[in-house]
Amino acid sequence: MDKFVIEGGHRLTGKVSVSGSKNALLALMPAVLLAPGTYTIHNSPNLRDVWTFSRLLGSIGVHCELNNNELFFDSSNITSYEAPYEHVKKMRASIYVLGPLVARYGKAKISLPGGCAFGPRPVDLHLKGMEKLGAKITLDAGYINAEAERLHGAKFNFDISSVGATVNMLLAASLAKGTSLLTNSATEPEVTALARMLVKMGAKIDGIGTTTLEIEGVDELHPVDETNIPDRIEAATFLIAAAMTQGKITMTNVNPYHLTNVVAKLEEVGCTVDVTGETIELEMSGPPSPSHITTAPYPGFPTDTQAQWTALMLLANGTSRTTDTIYTTRFGYVPELQRMGANIEIVDNTAIVYGGNKLQGTTVMSSDLRASASLILAALVAEGKTDVLRVYHLDRGYERLEHRLSALGANIKRVHTEEY
Ligand code: EPZ
Repeated sequence: MDKFVIEGGHRLTGKVSVSGSKNALLALMPAVLLAPGTYTIHNSPNLRDVWTFSRLLGSIGVHCELNNNELFFDSSNITSYEAPYEHVKKMRASIYVLGPLVARYGKAKISLPGGCAFGPRPVDLHLKGMEKLGAKITLDAGYINAEAERLHGAKFNFDISSVGATVNMLLAASLAKGTSLLTNSATEPEVTALARMLVKMGAKIDGIGTTTLEIEGVDELHPVDETNIPDRIEAATFLIAAAMTQGKITMTNVNPYHLTNVVAKLEEVGCTVDVTGETIELEMSGPPSPSHITTAPYPGFPTDTQAQWTALMLLANGTSRTTDTIYTTRFGYVPELQRMGANIEIVDNTAIVYGGNKLQGTTVMSSDLRASASLILAALVAEGKTDVLRVYHLDRGYERLEHRLSALGANIKRVHTEEY
């Protein structure tokens, strides 16, 4: 097990380059199941979730290799249609192999993903959508069994906006016979990135970037080389870290259009932000003003950034509110922040932050990926030393974070520990 040991009180200044998007890559990787052959995905972050997905694809027969942020695949010889619990329990995005396996091979056996640290994560929309495309779905002993002679086009409306269900349906409908109309689709950049890759592979998709996707299924697709988009959540995390330490950073290789909502809120609380092309500069002096955020599907404030935002609001002199409408119990990080001296109250799906308290360093424990990011941000400004345990959560979605924060001036070290 590793922990981070952080000494607070250091401003972040300098340049940082944003990594490729974890969530976009997890949507692009299953596309290699749709057409046999070799693929390269450039700008692939070196993360635990990418290794997990690579191992899952490997168990299905896909050769995967990650070298210097280049991900190579050879999907010429598929040997299995199963996504066993051992992979799925580590990462729910494993369910993304459902759509392509049924579309291409007519069958799939996928472990039902469990819940996660911030609540139940149902997959009913994935299953209802696949059934609409003609798959026969049965559940048996914790596994989804799906079969179809050949999927057919259909109309499907997502009861709620779902990134994962939209990803699965895009993958499946691309090879279905006939046209599909998906309404109330998720419009997150990660979904758009997948749609664009599928079109490069020969898929026929209209409405990309909107909530209405029209897919005219084709008989076959072909392998491609693709470049992954930047990680908007990592970018937001670095911007918030700089704001908390009253620093000044220049962030490169970012797509500013993917985080307009976060940038607007940072400016609202007093940050100076300049956007030029693929670069964002942020400077902050003094504490942020109090502010309220409510998460929403893209382009709303991302749920994956609410924990980091709450950490920022700890520094505001006044009362702020963080409301999560996507995951209403995604506040596992709050008790740990309270141990650092934060004054936060949870009421329903809202964290009420009474800001201005001094934060003291202590030992805290990560509970999930974005919770660990929130604790690290708080440690950067706490008095004294903070040990953040279980950084394996963080390693799922942030590449070499301790090195990149150190390069900006933070005092942070990764330490191996038996403590957990
Ligand atoms: C994706 O998860 C992201 N993961 C999550 O990021 C992110 O928090 C989430 O989208 C919301 O933006 C990846 O992209 C790999 P959803 P996903 O389906 O697809 C409900 C991170 O930190 N729902 O958009 O699982 C669901 O419970 C991770 O990087 C159903 O009810 O999320 C939630 O309330 C964490 N039935 C809402 O929809 C379903 O069948 C949105 O979930 C599917 C979802």
